[in-house]
Amino acid sequence: MASESAPFPAGFNISTSRLHIVPFDPANQTHAEFLVQLWNTEDFINSCGRTSISTPEKASNFIRQRVLQQYSVNQYGMFLVSLKEGENVTLSPIGTVSLMKGAPPDPHFLAPDIGFAVLPKHSGKGYAAEAAKGLLEWAHTDCGVEGAFGFCDPSNRRSRKVLQNIGMEFKGTAELQVFGGKKSAVYALPEMGDDLAVYGLAEPLSPE
Ligand SMILES: CC(C)(COP(=O)(O)OP(=O)(O)OC[C@H]1O[C@@H](n2cnc3c(N)ncnc32)[C@H](O)[C@@H]1OP(=O)(O)O)[C@@H](O)C(=O)NCCC(=O)NCCS
Repeated sequence: MASESAPFPAGFNISTSRLHIVPFDPANQTHAEFLVQLWNTEDFINSCGRTSISTPEKASNFIRQRVLQQYSVNQYGMFLVSLKEGENVTLSPIGTVSLMKGAPPDPHFLAPDIGFAVLPKHSGKGYAAEAAKGLLEWAHTDCGVEGAFGFCDPSNRRSRKVLQNIGMEFKGTAELQVFGGKKSAVYALPEMGDDLAVYGLAEPLSPE
């Protein structure tokens, strides 16, 4: 079956030293099954909350309706992260990495935000930071992305460390409208400077 992960050419992948980063394909059963597995780990639910993605069918529909829509609007979105085995793109998924940007009429920022998740059995090896760096470099070079935010629950120490490790600066905490007023730690790439209102972040920032 032809890949549905337009607008990417067949075989597209972002390569880092240990990882392949590939677009999600709703027709690929391995992709759908992996998303169900990842998003239903205790680790993921504790950090990000429970989703409605409980079956491969639901995951496939989510990929078709939401992930592909992000690809076509922004050129980027959520990608599958796989371990490299030689130069072949194996289907040995370990996590996801994403650059997401909302759009009107929903509350949104003018720069995307980076996100990541790694299966617990593969954590502790710095894969999230490696994938996030690879995605940001590609987005900068190929999509002209000049700035990116990083948001997470202030208590999510691992996520905060990953955001620091990829060179993002902690800007403070804020109750962000995009997350329904939930308090979030706000990180941004240094080149964005201190005036984050330029990127649509109007909420006041507190030190912690
Ligand atoms: C966040 C997540 C992707 C990190 O995965 P990972 O790449 O395996 O991360 P690691 O385990 O290598 O740890 C990353 C860093 O956090 C540090 N760390 C781990 N536990 C920590 C803790 N409790 N407090 C502070 N730092 C911690 C590690 O030492 C490492 O830093 P270092 O590389 O400088 O030593 C993974 O934990 C995950 O999937 N969590 C659930 C989903 C999630 O929270 N996503 C982020 C939502 S914004």
